This record gives sequence, structure tokens and C-alpha cells, in this order.
Amino acid sequence: MLCTSLGDAAGSPAFARWVRCARLLAVAAHGAVSGVVPGRPRARPGSGATASAAGDWLHRRLYEGIGLLPPRAAQRVRGGFFDTLFAVAPDPWNYADRPYELRKREALLRQVPPDAGVVVELGCADGHNLRELGTRMPGSRVMGLDISARAVAGARRRVADVPNVRVLRGSVAGAGRVLDAAGVHEVDVLVVAETLYYLGAPSVATSEIAGLARVLAPGARIVLLHPPSDARRFHEPVLRALRAEPVTHDAFADQERPFVIDVGVVGDRCDAA
Ligand SMILES: C[S@@+](CC[C@H](N)C(=O)[O-])C[C@H]1O[C@@H](n2cnc3c(N)ncnc32)[C@H](O)[C@@H]1O
Repeated sequence: MLCTSLGDAAGSPAFARWVRCARLLAVAAHGAVSGVVPGRPRARPGSGATASAAGDWLHRRLYEGIGLLPPRAAQRVRGGFFDTLFAVAPDPWNYADRPYELRKREALLRQVPPDAGVVVELGCADGHNLRELGTRMPGSRVMGLDISARAVAGARRRVADVPNVRVLRGSVAGAGRVLDAAGVHEVDVLVVAETLYYLGAPSVATSEIAGLARVLAPGARIVLLHPPSDARRFHEPVLRALRAEPVTHDAFADQERPFVIDVGVVGDRCDAA
């Protein structure tokens, strides 16, 4: 009942005002966590501007709160957050030039077999990973999906000259339908990096991502990258929801911010790691 009335309220002017306030809160939370504050000069690349533990904790709780909303309202709030973030800071995480992000991207790309047929990145932001995947793997079909229209527009600009990359707008929850509509029915590699904690608690994230299990090819490889505390909470349940067996676990003690990459393989080709 509460969910129904909240769902109905999602179209009301009061809800729109709440969304605007929540967007500003998200931008502030992003600044606290990343050290990238819109409208202020960027931290010098490599200077180690990172989250405080309290900032990280608040950030995660904020997104868990959003994950408690009815699905339609939650998607609207999340989309609004990220649209606002990309409006005020076109590269909100300094993906272009922060050495930490470059190191992390290289580690992620090493987990994608160069001969993969169809590679999908969920939460592709403005397309830095997609561009690298598309140019390094010209024989593959690379698809990115993001909830933010502004992120998608930025990613499309970034890959405009890479013909094997396509960027779609959609949420993780609706990704199966979006990929179906784009004619993608068998995904060989699914990449999810720095995105699962935005979906809410692990139970919400797993139920949202589970719909993708049916578009994974037999033997599909799932590549998950998150900070250690998030990896501990999300990676195993997400692999289970996608019916994948864990095959490798790599912890990177990066001097700026550690991260973990877990890889799982779907179905009976677990020896493909
Ligand atoms: C921190 S960025 C990660 C970018 C990229 N994966 C990387 O690691 O370099 C997170 C992205 O996830 C997107 N996102 C958040 N919630 C989402 C959802 N429910 N469905 C699809 N994308 C989502 C945001 O719009 C944002 O662009």
C-alpha cells in the first residue's frame, strides 16, 4: 500500500521538488566521497583525493535509502542524481586524467578476453572503458548502458569514431529488455565496475541484476570491480544471481584506493577462466 502511494506520488510536483533537493544532496555526497567538487578546481591528478570512511558510509546509506523506494521512483531519483552530476562536472570522477583511474581501467581491461564476441558494460558513465574496449577489440561488439541521459550523451560523443561501440540508455533493472530491443540476446562478457553500490542494498542489487541472467551466453564471463568493502557485500551474491561460478579473485592494494576484481563464469564452461 505504502509502495503504491509512493509510486503514485512519483509524478506529483511535491515529488519533483524532493527529487531536486535529493539531486543536490547527491552532488554534495559525491564531492565528499570523491574529492571532486563541482565548480572548484580539480584535485591534482594522483594527489590522492579520496573518500573518508564516513563519506563512503554516508554515500552508501544514501543510495540504500533510494533503493527502498518503489522501483519506478527509485529509477527516476537515480537518473536525476546522475544527470545533475554530469551537468555540473562532465567528468565527475576524473576518469580522463587521474592516474588511479587509468591504473584501475588497465586492470579491468586485462580481464576481458580480446576475442570476446559481445561485451556489455552496465553503468558505463561517459564511456572511457567503452572507448578502450572498442578500439582494442575491433572485432567485438561493445555495448554500454547507463541510467543517466547525460552520461549516455557523453559516452556517445566519446565513441563517435569507434564503429563497434553502441551506447544505450537504461537501468540495470531494465537492462535485459533494453538489450533484447537492441538485438543482443547472448552476452559473452558482462562488466560491472563501481556501480553495484548505487543500486541499494545487496538484496536490491541482486534482484535488479538477476534479469540479465537470461541474456548471458553459456560460458559468459562476469567481471566485477569495486572497493574491497563493496566487493565483499556484492560480488558473490551478484555472481550467484547471474548463475556464475567464481573463478578468480584479485585484490589490488593501490596506494590511492584499493579495489577488487572478481570474475565468474556462467554455466558449464567454468574452466574457461
Ligand atoms: C562511478 S560510475 C562507473 C563508471 C564505469 N563503470 C567505471 O567504473 O569506470 C557509475 C555509473 O553508474 C550509473 N548508474 C547508477 N545507477 C545505475 C542504474 N541503476 N542503472 C544503470 N546505470 C546506473 C551512473 O549513471 C554512473 O554513470
